[in-house]
Amino acid sequence: MTKDRKLIIAGNWKMNKTVAEALDLVAGLKRELANVKEVDLVVCPPFTALGAVAQAVLDSNLRLGAQNMSEHNFGAFTGEICAGMLKEFSVRYVILGHSERRQYQKESDALIARKAAAAHAASLKPIVCVGETLAEREAGRMENVLETQVRGSLAGLSKTQMDETVIAYEPVWAIGTGKTATTQQAQEAHAFIRRVLAGLFDEAVARRVRIQYGGSVKPSNARELMSQPDVDGALVGGASLEERSFADIVKNSI
Ligand code: PGA
Repeated sequence: MTKDRKLIIAGNWKMNKTVAEALDLVAGLKRELANVKEVDLVVCPPFTALGAVAQAVLDSNLRLGAQNMSEHNFGAFTGEICAGMLKEFSVRYVILGHSERRQYQKESDALIARKAAAAHAASLKPIVCVGETLAEREAGRMENVLETQVRGSLAGLSKTQMDETVIAYEPVWAIGTGKTATTQQAQEAHAFIRRVLAGLFDEAVARRVRIQYGGSVKPSNARELMSQPDVDGALVGGASLEERSFADIVKNSI
């Protein structure tokens, strides 16, 4: 399969894996995926495992991502982690605005945009998540919601920064539910997001930005999803917690 944009597949481990478990998983992924060059591979462990995983991936094609970061660079923000701290562990990517954070931590588009700016200032590549709920989709508001989230969460970023930004389209109703968007639903949403990017930046930027799909991606549906013209990778939750399923998602996507 050929596409101008290089696929990027990231594992979002969420609040799973002790250090020992994380090292086990990474050892397995290194064995399974050592020869993969066609896809950018990213693992996003919890903060507590970043240091150990950073060492473990040094000699591999796996890149490190974090699941969140503060908009601030330092200071009295108990419990928060800043970009500079992530950089200490050679983190390259940071997931921002995941729907679980939008829902449970009430993260707004404006906050996510400030975090994205802070990430870029530290040369971290944000993976900015957007996606509609089932109620929003059923009310015919999908496009409206996606446009608001894309515009709001990327507000203030430059065209150059967009080249170092990944977008993840994750319909909330498909996350952890076993319900994957059909390939057609995914393609439609991705094409729509790309049109919004063209309006916000320009056609060339929109053509270059990689848009991942997320929501119950599994080995069995990866190939069909990745074959869609505007789907440039996957953000994988549940299926990224086991070496076999994550490796098969990657192999089935090539
Ligand atoms: P899931 O999660 O693959 O378990 O549906 C995806 C995500 O939340 O990033």
